[in-house]
Amino acid sequence: MDDARTEKDRRLDSVRTDSAQPLTTETGVRVGDTDNSLRAGARGPTLLEDFHAREKITHFDHERIPERVVHARGAGAYGRFQPYEGLSDLTAAHFLSGPDVTTPVFVRFSTVAGSRGSADTVRDVRGFAVKFYTEQGNYDLVGNNMPVFFIQDGIKFPDFVHAVKPEPHNEIPQAQSAHDTLWDFVGLQPETTHMMMWLMSDRAIPRSYRTMQGFGVHTFRFVSAEGRGTFVKFHWKPLLGTHSLVWDEAQRIQGKDPDFNRRDLWEAIERGQYPEWELGVQLVAEEDEHAFDFDLLDATKIIPEEEVPVRPIGKMVLDRNPDNFFAETEQVAFHTANVVPGIDFTNDPLLQARNFSYLDTQLLRLGGSNFQQIPVNRPVAPVSNNQRDGFAQHRVHRGQTSYYPNSLGGGCPAPADEGVYRHYAEKVEGGKIRVRSESFADHYSQATLFYNSLADWEREHLVAGFRFELGKCEELAVRQRVVANLNHVDHELSARVAEGIGVEPPETEGTPNHGRSSPAVSMANTAFGSL
Ligand code: HEM
Repeated sequence: MDDARTEKDRRLDSVRTDSAQPLTTETGVRVGDTDNSLRAGARGPTLLEDFHAREKITHFDHERIPERVVHARGAGAYGRFQPYEGLSDLTAAHFLSGPDVTTPVFVRFSTVAGSRGSADTVRDVRGFAVKFYTEQGNYDLVGNNMPVFFIQDGIKFPDFVHAVKPEPHNEIPQAQSAHDTLWDFVGLQPETTHMMMWLMSDRAIPRSYRTMQGFGVHTFRFVSAEGRGTFVKFHWKPLLGTHSLVWDEAQRIQGKDPDFNRRDLWEAIERGQYPEWELGVQLVAEEDEHAFDFDLLDATKIIPEEEVPVRPIGKMVLDRNPDNFFAETEQVAFHTANVVPGIDFTNDPLLQARNFSYLDTQLLRLGGSNFQQIPVNRPVAPVSNNQRDGFAQHRVHRGQTSYYPNSLGGGCPAPADEGVYRHYAEKVEGGKIRVRSESFADHYSQATLFYNSLADWEREHLVAGFRFELGKCEELAVRQRVVANLNHVDHELSARVAEGIGVEPPETEGTPNHGRSSPAVSMANTAFGSL
């Protein structure tokens, strides 16, 4: 990749401002004194007519916006993505059509649970969100640094996040996995088990954002120009390798440099050591949808790479720091439903909920319906429609009409025939029921697979992670329940964890529930089944 500026860089030129001019108000009136408010006499009261003081203070009073409801703390950078080869046989996405297409990107890495001011090196999942500014519109791959998720259905997300965030009565603890509400939820909701194994492992304390893998998590769909679908899972692989901190290091760094990961990314880019990731895909033909012993629509499962190898398809480099943290990193708005022709969803119930949630929260977080016009969010593809007005409208639409069809001219022209987004014509049938598929019922075998893949020293760290975090939980019954779940993953693991946290080790080996209902699934099928 050469180091030429991207189309997105050129577009941003028009909004960059340097404060080289003399001081003015927002209306452009020059100001001669910004240290003294206008008053009646040298020691008298301040006058209401001091428009400069009022504007300055009012603007300051309104500087804060809500932080993200999750993933509040993050760091971002611009860069580029270039495919190794054309994938037109699989997808109509132009940005994957061949090595001659380079696409600008903005990436935001984040922690999940902590607030905007929390420390970087906490034990947590990391967000890995990529916005591709493609010629066909923006495509967002909103992933994490772990390939699975805690829950299977987005309707559980508010419950999960309420359990993982600081507890409501005292807002303790910040950005830690060590508290009763999280472990209470986890013990009662065994579908979290696989992800909790990742969270207690060293994957949850990455050394650097530059040494972190990323995963789209869900199964998505590539759709070719002819309408043929192929299931796809996305993987980002850091070319520097995947490296973690050890827990003791992570804790010390939290005190010494809470900006450790953020600073590392910024400084590497300033030094010209641009981090790179390879994008890989696992592809599954539509006819093989049911060829696995898990459900492709279940976000608590990986597709083992032994069964479907990862095919590298391109490379991303991050080579420019943002000019302004708030304007760019804070105001960037990722959304799983920002897709381009050639990429579609599946019926994964977690993904379906996300497709609702991101836009909904951004309407609040970014102050209304025009946040796509914020420079970092603007596509490089042209925008033309009959959406009008709203808070902070920046476009000056011309003409008499803003509806379709119209015979008076102006407004937005008719929808196009070519290059349009076409949804994959998946056949769906079924009654309206509130149940979870039995094919989502096995919560332990992949957790066992994960445990079996670890080296001895990685198991040591995992056990230490469970002991440290679960050991902070004050309710013994909650600890015991989690240990009982771990017994279904591996008897020795649960015994070692139990031993370190003062609860009874399980006497007999657990039974991994291949294809059988867990309590949570049965609950969904019976208690709520008729709602
Ligand atoms: C934010 C990933 C599940 C709702 C984020 C961000 C990432 C992410 C990376 C930060 C985006 C940024 O940098 O601005 C994921 C992954 C998930 C997942 C990989 C599961 C596979 C969910 C679910 C929901 C949800 C199930 C809701 C039903 C949100 C919300 C935000 C967010 C509301 C804040 C967005 C904003 O304020 O801009 N998620 N998430 N996420 N996520 Fe998720």
